[in-house]
This record gives sequence, C-alpha cells and structure tokens, in this order.
Amino acid sequence: MKTTGGSERAKRAAGESAADAVEDGAVVGLGTGSTAAHAIRAIGRAVDSGLDVRGVPTSFQSRELAKEAGIPLVGLDEVDGIDLAIDGADQFSGPHLVKGGGAAHAREKIVDATADRLLVVADPSKAARQLDHPVPIEVLPDARTTVADEVRALGGAPTLRSAERKDGPVVTDNGNLVLDCEFGGIDRPAELADDLSALPGAVEHGLFVGMADEVHVGSDDGVEVTRF
Ligand code: A5P
Repeated sequence: MKTTGGSERAKRAAGESAADAVEDGAVVGLGTGSTAAHAIRAIGRAVDSGLDVRGVPTSFQSRELAKEAGIPLVGLDEVDGIDLAIDGADQFSGPHLVKGGGAAHAREKIVDATADRLLVVADPSKAARQLDHPVPIEVLPDARTTVADEVRALGGAPTLRSAERKDGPVVTDNGNLVLDCEFGGIDRPAELADDLSALPGAVEHGLFVGMADEVHVGSDDGVEVTRF
C-alpha cells in the first residue's frame, strides 16, 4: 500500500526543511517512511555537529534508522512531552492526512498527537483536493472479519493487506493485521474517523484529521511550507 510518485530529491528537500525546525534541547517524534527518513538522516547530521536532541521513534524502521544516524532515543514513557514530530503521509488535504502505507500509523498517531507541533513532509504527489486514498485500519487478528463487515456497512471496501516477500498478511510492529479500506472521496473525514475509531477490534486507523501544523512539500526546485 505504499504510495509511489515523488522523486528522492523532492522527498529529501521536504525532510531536510522540516529537520531545520528542530531546536537544541528538543524532544522530536521521528516518523516512518521514505520521506521522514530524510529528516531523520538530517537530524543525525545535526547531532554529529553538536545538536542536543532526543528522538521518539514511531516504528521499528525509524528506530533502526535513528540509531544508525546517531540520534539518542527515548521512549514515550520517559519524556514529559514531545516538542515536534516530523512524519510523512500517503495523502494530505490541508491539515488532514491519510497515513499507514507502512503500517506504522498506530504508533505514529500516538507520537504525532502528543507532539506540540506536527510537521508533515511530503512530495507533491501526496497533495489532494479531497482525501480519497484507502484508509488503513490496524486490527486485532481475531477482529479482521468483524471489522471488515463493519467497514462494508459504513460503505467501504476492505482488503486485508498482503505481505510482499512473505506468504500471508502484513503483520504490524504491534503484531496486528491491516485492512486497507477504500471509501472513494471522503466528504467528512472527522465523521468517518469517529466511526472507524468506534469499531471493536480496530486498534487504530490512518485518518489523521486536522493534525498537521505544517506541511513541507518538497520538489526538485525547493520546498513550499504551508502552516495551519
Ligand atoms: C507509515 O505507516 C506511513 O504513515 C508513512 O508515514 C507514509 O506511508 C509516508 O511514507 P512515504 O514518505 O514513504 O511515502
């Protein structure tokens, strides 16, 4: 379910632009995905040059990358708060996001929601007038069929996400499964988010309604920053 489209140059421009916002002494939420990875590497270079930060990873991937980049890491239960989080998105419309293409949205949502500011990093292919990307839902394995039924009742079309290079489904960092749910154009993201949050057995969904404080969109020519 990874979204493709943007150039590495565009992703790097976005990631480095957001990394520039990290101040000395900050606790930083480290997002997941190929665009946030550029921010993590840039923060690592800044740490090499003396920046004092602590990172809170959102996934196995971001933890490994941050360790490699030399960023000191802490758990969410070891800090009083998070100053800012930098995270990617599969699609954004204003401050609203669809996330979870890498199946990391449950931990991402916890970290991103805790942060005082969420800086989203993206390439132009992620921009949409209206959200219409399939919404991932992380589900407890036993609840995959019941949640799928409820999603159909809400007008969605769920598909159990299959793994690549492994037979069977994707298993998240939390040991759960993912349903990618096609809803077409999403007219009322907040309402849909509430409906999905209410489903028994749904651990977390990938609608991040109104959560972005800034979106840094990189391109081959530079970066455009929108603040909300
Ligand atoms: C991880 O589950 C996702 O929410 C990612 O943040 C999202 O898929 C963006 O990843 P890319 O920057 O690789 O497109």
